[in-house]
Amino acid sequence: MMTIKLQTEKKINSYKTAKKQLDALLENETDTILKMATINAVLKQQLPYIYWVGFYIADIHKQSLSVGPYQGTIACMHITYGKGVCGSVALSQKTKIVKDVTILAEGEDHITCDPNSKSEIVVPVFNKQQQLIAVLDLDSEEFDAFDEIDQKFLEGILSVFQH
Ligand code: SME
Repeated sequence: MMTIKLQTEKKINSYKTAKKQLDALLENETDTILKMATINAVLKQQLPYIYWVGFYIADIHKQSLSVGPYQGTIACMHITYGKGVCGSVALSQKTKIVKDVTILAEGEDHITCDPNSKSEIVVPVFNKQQQLIAVLDLDSEEFDAFDEIDQKFLEGILSVFQH
């Protein structure tokens, strides 16, 4: 699987197309799993720089994340809050962009599910009550594949879990 980085303008256009598709597909949809599966499918199709996209479902009582709907190579199934990029976002509840995952401490600051991963973005997912229900993780085989454009559009797309 090869990932291809996009110029800013192409990236914005890809997200605009993705947003349009998701608005049409998820209009009046209430099922959380169905929303997650559809977001994965659309993002995987529109963003050539990602090889993995998926949700980790938050369990506040166990303080752990379990893998939910995803597309890509086989994922780690359980992540403790505070561990790796996903676990750190579960705690901070703020989007995190990592331009080079290879320099992070393995098992602590980054959990390597696939050695080809070079950069990633993880975005918190909230429900209508503003509670964290999941995190969305996008991974690339390119260094520095994600920036504030990804953050802005992904946070916008994920607002679908608030209605
Ligand atoms: N990279 C993540 C682990 C999940 S996999 O990439 C699918 C992390 O460190 O949080």
